[in-house]
Amino acid sequence: MRWWSAGRAVRRFVPAAPPHSLRAGLAAVAATLAAFSLLLAAPVTRAEPQPSEMCGLCHRDIYTMWRSSAHARSMESLVFQEALQGAKADHGAGVAQLCLNCHSPMLQAVQDPKLRQKVTWEGVSCDFCHSLVSVDPAKGLPKQVIDVGDVKRGPIRGTVSTGHEVAYSDLHTKSLVCAGCHEYQNPEGVRVLATYSEWKDSGAAKEGKQCQDCHMDRTAANVVDPRVKRVSSASVNVHEVPGGHSLEFLHKAVAASIEPVREGDTLTLTLRLTNKGAGHAVPTGMPGRRVILNVEVKTSSGASFKEERVYGRFFADAAGDAVVRDSGYFASGVKETSDSRLKADERRVETFRFQVPPDDTAFVRYQLHYEHSPLGGPEGRTRLTFLTEQRTIAPRQP
Ligand code: HEC
Ligand code: HEC
Ligand code: HEC
Ligand code: HEC
Ligand code: HEC
Repeated sequence: MRWWSAGRAVRRFVPAAPPHSLRAGLAAVAATLAAFSLLLAAPVTRAEPQPSEMCGLCHRDIYTMWRSSAHARSMESLVFQEALQGAKADHGAGVAQLCLNCHSPMLQAVQDPKLRQKVTWEGVSCDFCHSLVSVDPAKGLPKQVIDVGDVKRGPIRGTVSTGHEVAYSDLHTKSLVCAGCHEYQNPEGVRVLATYSEWKDSGAAKEGKQCQDCHMDRTAANVVDPRVKRVSSASVNVHEVPGGHSLEFLHKAVAASIEPVREGDTLTLTLRLTNKGAGHAVPTGMPGRRVILNVEVKTSSGASFKEERVYGRFFADAAGDAVVRDSGYFASGVKETSDSRLKADERRVETFRFQVPPDDTAFVRYQLHYEHSPLGGPEGRTRLTFLTEQRTIAPRQP
């Protein structure tokens, strides 16, 4: 790497030199690559991929944000590791190849079958995304072509860097750059991951809103450490890339309202839900994610009622049994049996009827939860309550 091996720019501005073990690690990567690059015809690889903390030496703020993103944890995540072990146990070790395409995408450019190198462990890294030259999500596993080398590609036009060469890339300003991992069709044609195609059919796409406009908003921070280069506009794209684990995002996604009507001994509740703010279905991503609507009614004479609706995708395996664990969705032969999610821009009306004595006061509450249970049970379950409202409904006046 020119900017690293020449070293000047980095050493001049950065307080701590990289630890010795890291340099040894890089040398090992280089040696491995040299040995294998002649045998590998696949991707264009002109230099060894860099661990993200190297980029962080100059791009400090962006590194800090990325470090707390789901992308940085896509390999380390226990949820992923458990699902990976489960998938290997159920479908053979070979299935890992499929998973690692997206969870450790740098394996395209390094030989690391034992997954010991930093660049494979850190998951969706700076160098992977900023070396992407094309993405083709046409069918099956999308094809992502990377060109790892001196040139880092991004959204800034006509800039210069002492760190490395830069190139403006239109791809990086479009949803297509995310499609390589956020879309996957299995050999039977089932879209296991469909966020990109859901977005393509959304009103947001028609208005020209890209994934980045919602998930990588601009925020005040330095593109590079000011000691490396003074840049006039101090703003960057949010690299935490928040999603369904963020209450703020869930609030943006769904609006709800309730309308109670009492007639005789019947209380009718009409709930209107709108997917107003996600440029895709809610929930999206891994098929095991759910949004759950609970409605509870208690009456002054002590009766109580509960009902729920579940919004999600439901899959069955080749034998016809329901898939409930994250490790099962990528198995061959799986089929989608139903999809009750709130599509992009959809308005859904749910009606509930309860028998409430006319002289009782009714206490009504609804709640919306976001749920993910990767092991298909209570273990490791995430449950966030993101919308709730209570109403007291007086008895009907005689
Ligand atoms: C020695 C300091 C240094 C290091 C290390 C460094 N960069 Fe940069 N980078 C810069 C500077 C300076 C700019 C120009 C910023 C500007 O003008 O706004 C830049 C710009 C960029 C851009 C914007 C390009 C564009 O045209 O949009 C990207 C993307 C980028 N760097 C990625 C990386 C990645 C990935 C790494 C690690 C593999 C890395 N950088 C390591 C200094 C560095
Ligand atoms: C190289 C593959 C890859 C690319 C490219 C990629 N992602 Fe991801 N993304 C992942 C993986 C893998 C995860 C899940 C990580 C985990 O939780 O284990 C993820 C998770 C997410 C999440 C979930 C965050 C959460 O907390 O629920 C969002 C949002 C997201 N990505 C948005 C994007 C956007 C926007 C882009 C394009 C700018 C993008 N991704 C590009 C692989 C990728
Ligand atoms: C999931 C892919 C992905 C990862 C991982 C990623 N970036 Fe980015 N980055 C992008 C995209 C996409 C943009 C442009 C967004 C836009 O303009 O809409 C961007 C923008 C940038 C820019 C230009 C300034 C800005 O914020 O707009 C720099 C510099 C940069 N990234 C550096 C890094 C560094 C350093 C890391 C790791 C610490 C990193 N990126 C990790 C996708 C990624
Ligand atoms: C109009 C804004 C908007 C656009 C455009 C958009 N998203 Fe989202 N996204 C959201 C909101 C709001 C949420 C939170 C609700 C949810 O989890 O479904 C979300 C959630 C997610 C999640 C988390 C999944 C989960 O439920 O944990 C992923 C992954 C994601 N988006 C990826 C993408 C990708 C990839 C694109 C582009 C193809 C994209 N989004 C386009 C607003 C948007
Ligand atoms: C085409 C790319 C792709 C492939 C192949 C893939 N994944 Fe993922 N995976 C993703 C993306 C993107 C997300 C984030 C979507 C979301 O947030 O719902 C994700 C999320 C996950 C999650 C949820 C992580 C969390 O923290 O919530 C698990 C578990 C998971 N994947 C397991 C696997 C396993 C096991 C395999 C292989 C059998 C696999 N994945 C194959 C792209 C992929």
